[in-house]
Amino acid sequence: MTSRGFGSYSEILLDHFENPRNVGDVESPDAVGRAGNPACGDTVVLSLRVSEGRIRQARFRASGCSAAIAGASMTTVLLTGLTVERAAELTDQDVAVALGGLPPAKVHCSVLAEEAIRSALDDLAARSRTKR
Ligand code: FES
Repeated sequence: MTSRGFGSYSEILLDHFENPRNVGDVESPDAVGRAGNPACGDTVVLSLRVSEGRIRQARFRASGCSAAIAGASMTTVLLTGLTVERAAELTDQDVAVALGGLPPAKVHCSVLAEEAIRSALDDLAARSRTKR
C-alpha cells in the first residue's frame, strides 16, 4: 500500500488507475454490460467479444472514482481469455484481490465491476437466445 495522496491504495491499483488497460469499446461487441452506483453516480460500461465460449476481448469505459476505474481496468484483464462459465464465477472480491486489496471505505467500488460482468453475461445470454 502507498500514500501518494491516494490514501492506502496499492501500487497495482494506482498503476491501473494511471494506465488503465483496454479502455474503449469492442467493435461490434457480442455483449455489453452496464453498472452504476446510485450513491456516488459512478458508472462502468463493459463490452465483450466472445467466440467458442471464450472471452476474446474486453474493453471498458468508466466514469468514477480511482478504485472504480482501476477495478474496471483489472476486470478486462481478468476476463480476457476466460471461458464464459469461469467469467460468471468472478466476484468483486476477485477483482479487489487482483488489485492488491482495497481500503475499507472503497471496497464497495469493486462491486461495480462485478455488476458490469453480470450485466454483460446476461446480455450475452439474451443475444444467444434470440439467435436460436
Ligand atoms: Fe463510486 Fe467508488 S466512489 S464507485
